Amino acid sequence: MLVESNYPLQTHNTFGIVAKALQLVHVRSEADVQAVVAHAQLRDLPKLVLGGGSNIVLTGDVKPLVLKVELKGMRLVEETDKAWMVEAAAGESWHELVQWTLAQGWPGLENMALIPGSVGASPVQNIGAYGVELQDRFESLDAIDLRTGHSFSLDAAQCAFGYRDSVFKHGPNQASGGSRSMGLAGQALISRVRFRLPKAWKPVLGYADLERKMAETGITQPSAQQIFDWVCAIRRAKLPDPAVIGNAGSFFKNPTVTPEQCADIIARDPKVVHYPLDDGSIKLAAGWLIDACGWKGKTVGNAAVYDKQALVLVNKGGRDHPCTGGEVMTLAKAIQTSVYERFGIRLEPEPVVV
Ligand code: EPU
Repeated sequence: MLVESNYPLQTHNTFGIVAKALQLVHVRSEADVQAVVAHAQLRDLPKLVLGGGSNIVLTGDVKPLVLKVELKGMRLVEETDKAWMVEAAAGESWHELVQWTLAQGWPGLENMALIPGSVGASPVQNIGAYGVELQDRFESLDAIDLRTGHSFSLDAAQCAFGYRDSVFKHGPNQASGGSRSMGLAGQALISRVRFRLPKAWKPVLGYADLERKMAETGITQPSAQQIFDWVCAIRRAKLPDPAVIGNAGSFFKNPTVTPEQCADIIARDPKVVHYPLDDGSIKLAAGWLIDACGWKGKTVGNAAVYDKQALVLVNKGGRDHPCTGGEVMTLAKAIQTSVYERFGIRLEPEPVVV
């Protein structure tokens, strides 16, 4: 087991914020986690599991022991008449998994192309884009209990997936959405994730941006590779590449409101972007709400609201003059206040604030 002190994290969080991990362990095998659990000084420390660092805001040096997941490997575990079952280790890049499955001729993940981050982080917030969520392709995962070192597996029901939510986002004393089981945040390290990719593949094209691509190109029956290319093009046009401009993707979740609240907002702002959900509630586009409050391009220090998508906060100082986590959070709080004052809606941040 390799333990490092004062380990720089600037290149391990996609905002590019400067911070150190006071202590960090590289997790390259399950044995590394077991060694931590057996270690007299390390085992009782609070722990932070770090994947691709694409969904965190670092507001200072990290005091919990950082477990940096570097587990590798992707394989086909089973092929039946109905589906391919693919397994990837938690430290693999999500986008590389999407590319690899398509190259093998196993479609199903294409709508989630180019989402930054690692495979191990993907179930934590049930990533999703362009009409497909991780839970739609998820089979099961393996994780290691950080108190005992024992491995265990969870199926989809046990993960209690919700919109950008799972059992891994809730603390041990807090039940997670729709589940009576207690949360696993900080208690477990996801080591492998398995996906079921049905052979009866059907393209998912209901999302407005994809409908626009179909209309523009005249292609009405796109292949999975075509959808992958469209999704990459759409994302590149409106979302900043974290390798160029630091960011953590959407900074807030899209809020849901009652039909009455929505009608009230429409009466004042007829253009509000809203989508009815199956349960009768209505999802509002947080990006639209923030944009309507005039936030595009606004800054606090070197933290800024991205000028092409108001839901994304960016580090406009680059590597040399990066924003601080404090600037990001000050900007985020000012946005929350202004959206609340105008629309009466409390926006909930998506990234984990450390
Ligand atoms: N909009 C504006 N102004 C803005 C931003 C958006 O008017 O500044 C409007 C858009 O025109 C559109 C609507 O708001 O009508 C929704 O915007 P968009 O299609 O860009 O999607 P989103 O709801 O903002 C969500 C996910 C993204 C995902 C896209 C595509 C969340 C929090 N975000 O964004 O996920 O890529 O849909 O499926 O659910 C992420 O989670 O990090 C992420 C990037």
